[in-house]
Amino acid sequence: MKTELLAPQPDAIEKAAGILRAGGLVVIPTETVYGLAANALDGAAVSAIFAAKGRPQDNPLISHIASMDMLGMVAGSVPPQAQRLAEAFWPGPLTMVLPRGAAVAREVCAGLETAAVRMPSHPVAQAVIRAAGVPLAAPSANLSGSPSPTTAQDVLADMDGRVPLILDGGACEVGVESTVVSLAGPSPVLLRPGGITKEQLEAVLGCEVQLAHAVLHGLREGEKAASPGMKYKHYAPKAEVTLVKGPFRAYCDYVAGRAGPGVFALCYEGEEAELSVPAVTYGRRESAASQAHALFGALRELDRRGARTVYARCPQMDGMALAVYNRILRAAAFRVVDV
Ligand code: TXA
Ligand code: MG
Repeated sequence: MKTELLAPQPDAIEKAAGILRAGGLVVIPTETVYGLAANALDGAAVSAIFAAKGRPQDNPLISHIASMDMLGMVAGSVPPQAQRLAEAFWPGPLTMVLPRGAAVAREVCAGLETAAVRMPSHPVAQAVIRAAGVPLAAPSANLSGSPSPTTAQDVLADMDGRVPLILDGGACEVGVESTVVSLAGPSPVLLRPGGITKEQLEAVLGCEVQLAHAVLHGLREGEKAASPGMKYKHYAPKAEVTLVKGPFRAYCDYVAGRAGPGVFALCYEGEEAELSVPAVTYGRRESAASQAHALFGALRELDRRGARTVYARCPQMDGMALAVYNRILRAAAFRVVDV
């Protein structure tokens, strides 16, 4: 299959909508990461997503909507807490897990009785959903296991020949996937941290939001994943990554003691000169938003430069930084050292 890469002009959006209505796949930009989209009401179309990504069948997908009218196609009911979060954070990088609706394809929910839904704020994503006239199931547009793509070029590196059309919307603003919160149980649970923080959710809900254990620790032996996506090694570059927790000086000494062929540092902007190995940067030390924006591109850059061993600076663990920590921890397969 030949893959077309188009700027998101009106005719390209119409073309995308036509492919989606006919049961095909299109890659669309969102404010978080690029998404590999199909009609969420069409089981065969959704199955093609799993095939194109090499995604395990038991990992459910997020349905993307462009208006509250579409919510009823995905969710069976909307609890009051979900209504309040939608008013506060939609459109935007928040996904809610709700009781599943009857119209959404079984394949989207991977056999669960819940459905994940979000209303993206990216104008191109919104335009494509509106033109298609249906909710779009869309996981991140990477091959399963590799870092989520935040530019059309990153999408092409993974998806060339696997999809007919990629819409190029430039670099994604947030850079990590949406926050996933479950409102399908007795109390809200944060399944995946992202651009909307735990603190922001708690401020709107006026109650504590529980952090799923797997966010910081991976799954315990025998534990069933509340969010199946969390059980897979994720976001991983080819290199072996280790997170190095501690002050900058101690980090520099630790890296210097391990210099050698294929050894790289993954640090913050402006720190490169202090390091005795080649360095790739991911944002500024004081800005978690800039780290989120840069992280997945930096992981891909390490692969391109042939990194085999990577020592990464460790982000904070609150606010937006929790999302960065969660992703980099998985890229490091939970290897963390204190210095
Ligand atoms: O920002 C995003 O969310 C991007 C863009 C494209 O919108 N999409 C994305 O999709 O990250 P994906 O498939 O890579 O991640 C979806 C996550 C997975 O961890 C999955 O297990 C979880 O959401 N999920 C989906 N449906 C669920 C459900 N019914 N219950 C619990 N977790 C669910
Ligand atoms: Mg993904």
